[in-house]
Amino acid sequence: MGWLVISVANARIARKVCLTSSDILIIAENFLAAMTVHRVGAEARLDSAMWMNRLVVLKQRVVKSYRHPTLDKSLQTYRIKNEVRLMLEARKAGVSVPIIYSVDLADNRIVMEEIPGMRVKDALESLPSEKAERVCMKIGEIAARLHANDIVHGDLTTSNMLLDDDRIVVIDFSLGSKTSELEDKGVDMHLLEEAFHSAHYKRSELYEAVKDSYVRAYPAGAAVLKKVEEIEKRGRYTRKE
Ligand SMILES: Nc1ncnc2c1ncn2[C@@H]1O[C@H](COP(=O)(O)OP(=O)(O)OP(=O)(O)O)[C@@H](O)[C@H]1O
Ligand SMILES: [Mg+2]
Repeated sequence: MGWLVISVANARIARKVCLTSSDILIIAENFLAAMTVHRVGAEARLDSAMWMNRLVVLKQRVVKSYRHPTLDKSLQTYRIKNEVRLMLEARKAGVSVPIIYSVDLADNRIVMEEIPGMRVKDALESLPSEKAERVCMKIGEIAARLHANDIVHGDLTTSNMLLDDDRIVVIDFSLGSKTSELEDKGVDMHLLEEAFHSAHYKRSELYEAVKDSYVRAYPAGAAVLKKVEEIEKRGRYTRKE
């Protein structure tokens, strides 16, 4: 039963619809049956599964044995709560994020909607120019919405955006924060620009579309982009030393 997630909300639903323990066992078995590995990262493991008749992704934080167990637990709890809180804030700001079905702090796990489609990072490799430019304008609008609402993503790259038809869904807010600091917003935009110069180096001119729509949707973004120039200069100076 190690993988069974019954969150407080689901336990309440289970009581309301009078599920018996054998029903719950059947749910647990269904839940286990459909699991396939999505990705095993250094900090988290992601699996696809059927859960309560829905296609979901389980994001399971990896326990780090080299950390003191109490410290590791509080770090995991902090990251999960932070990720969920920022996903909800982003949704409120009008940015598409996966629906969260369950949060299990005891087992360091989030159960969320599985988004069909591919990462924007991969899509940008093959999309025709016009469509790629439209995607980039949307990326700029998303960054603008986040920053206008003082949400800093913390790892704003095209690996953390999924393309579902014409919709871009943002994931992986675990390193994010709520802040009005220009510097933090600048680091977000700097990371995004770096992604265009590395992962998308063949189409790095597309970043112009990101910047244009970012400033159009968020006029204060001009100051953020100025900050990015400062961050880049600082980086070059440090690298030379
Ligand atoms: N809701 C989702 N729907 C579909 N695929 C997802 C979803 N969430 C994550 N993925 C897939 O799993 C990959 C890794 O997810 P994510 O970026 O959240 O993990 P991570 O980078 O390992 O996490 P962290 O930086 O928090 O340690 C994504 O690039 C994406 O391919
Ligand atoms: Mg990620």
